[in-house]
Amino acid sequence: MTALRAAARVQALPTNFFAALDRAVAEARVRGIDVIDVSKGNPDLPTPPHIVEAMQKAVADPRNHGYPSSLVRPALGRAIATRYREDHGIDLDPDTQVAAFHGSHEALMAAILGLVDPGAALVVPDPGYPAYETAARLAGAEVRTLPLVRADGYRPDFTALADLDAAAAVLLNFPHNPTGAVAAPATFEAAVAESERLGGVFVNDFAYSSLGYEGRPLSALTVDDTRTVEVSTLSKTYSMAGWRIGYAAGAPDLIAAMRRYQAHAFSTIFGATQDAAAAALAGDQSAAHELVETYRARRDLVVATLRTQGWDVVDPAGTFFVWVGIDDADDVAFADRLLSSHGVAVAPGSGFGAGGAGFIRISLVHPLDRLREMTERLAAAKRATG
Ligand SMILES: Cc1ncc(COP(=O)(O)O)c(C=O)c1O
Repeated sequence: MTALRAAARVQALPTNFFAALDRAVAEARVRGIDVIDVSKGNPDLPTPPHIVEAMQKAVADPRNHGYPSSLVRPALGRAIATRYREDHGIDLDPDTQVAAFHGSHEALMAAILGLVDPGAALVVPDPGYPAYETAARLAGAEVRTLPLVRADGYRPDFTALADLDAAAAVLLNFPHNPTGAVAAPATFEAAVAESERLGGVFVNDFAYSSLGYEGRPLSALTVDDTRTVEVSTLSKTYSMAGWRIGYAAGAPDLIAAMRRYQAHAFSTIFGATQDAAAAALAGDQSAAHELVETYRARRDLVVATLRTQGWDVVDPAGTFFVWVGIDDADDVAFADRLLSSHGVAVAPGSGFGAGGAGFIRISLVHPLDRLREMTERLAAAKRATG
């Protein structure tokens, strides 16, 4: 019999970084290790009750039991526009400037597959969220990494792209996973200018749109909405990661391309999820504001404690991650040791690209007492390595 094998585009995909971390944690638990898993950005808190109630009501409504339209529900489109108006002072046309997706991961896929031709260059940050590279491979795009360096506060220096003449898109992600850096207006102005020079579009991954410790994170659309599209999500702001709902906003032509790709590739989004997302975005935002304070308390505890222990901690201004330098270039082996000898699962920095080597990423997705225990285990690890 002829060998059965996956298509070349699937064979070309990298190992899923987060799935590999999950496997390592599951194996350690089978061996009886009490693992504190801070390796993934999976929020631990429940979705606020008013959103859950909106979902329960929407699920019971027979109008949500059939195929939904491939267009964004008007209430959800308006709710996305409301958040942009109230949070960022930006007026968007809900009919042409927004789209909804099964999470920002899918919105990123739609942006890259919908806007980047095979062989064209896609500029992605290094370190950066691994899905950009995956999407680029599916699109047959040429990945060009843009180094983000600590000395510049992990903000891009576009002179690193001086030898590049053309790119279909420049993709950034502020607030930045994994380092917690946030953008300044100049960051986005330079990104828009660079996209223009390269003849491409600018995509900002705004997944941590609400998680800023020095005020609300800046939307790229405050700088430009003519060649820019921003993708965002309810996963982090409302602790709705399992619900799979996110959105994009920006230039109408880019939104149209993404919607078109989405309708063909992913079909439609459960109407009840859209109704609940509209309730989350248009309703009372106090739970979202309280969530920032919860993560701030966790960040303060972890940053201060690790510093006292002598770790090299980068101060996060946004996201719910803490980026920590280790005295070991092999961060993968270091993370393996942390898991097997101390029961702490962290994300090794090189999983985010070569620029992440020598770092680990800690997610603040546990209550304070568990995070305190995590820092005690890290102290023991530091003592063990001297
Ligand atoms: C930077 C970044 N972008 C996108 C996503 C995808 O999130 P979701 O698909 O839940 O919206 C994540 C999730 O961790 C992320 O960290």
